[in-house]
Amino acid sequence: MGFKIVGFAGSLRKGSFNKIVLNAAKELAPDEVDFEIVDLEGIPMFNADLESDMPKKVLEFKSKIKEANAVVIVSPEYNYSVPGVLKNALDWASRPYGNNSFDEKPVGLISSSIGTIAGSRSIYHLRQVMLYLNAHTLNKPEVMIPFVQDKIVDGKLTDEKTLQNIEALLNALVKWADRIKQD
Ligand code: FNR
Repeated sequence: MGFKIVGFAGSLRKGSFNKIVLNAAKELAPDEVDFEIVDLEGIPMFNADLESDMPKKVLEFKSKIKEANAVVIVSPEYNYSVPGVLKNALDWASRPYGNNSFDEKPVGLISSSIGTIAGSRSIYHLRQVMLYLNAHTLNKPEVMIPFVQDKIVDGKLTDEKTLQNIEALLNALVKWADRIKQD
């Protein structure tokens, strides 16, 4: 069986820069990797009353994560932290208690921002969330992309150094997932 990565962006915006970065990651994935992009659009706000009969979109999201060998999240930073839409999806994925889809999941994190700090504050908050979810978050390389709008031409990420960094992260993530599986 091949290696499956599920990737999603922490932005719903049609022209999202983070979605463009995610598309670049899909294209840069190693040959043996099946990289599927999932959109968080349609995942409702978390409500514990719905946990016993979860919305279809949430069940689909959870099973895609569960079946993946690794997950890639590309996110902006909102007000120095994780965008609500992304945190909401992670909260759903963690539930119900005892059925956390991220348990033992290798995860690679990428951020991008129109500013100088590159969304890094959202990544460090995300790392904290991943800790509780018992995900195996890849430490290095870290990919945080500042001034992302200047690195996109005609809806595509074109900055060579950034593309190399993303490729290095994907290669490291696949290796990391294989190492974890062997233990
Ligand atoms: C932002 N933005 C932003 N940028 C940043 O570097 N640090 C921040 O704390 C924030 N905070 C923030 C809050 C909210 C509510 C919005 C809407 C935006 C700007 C953000 O980087 C920019 O809008 C990106 O383009 C968002 O990512 P997408 O949608 O292009 O993927």
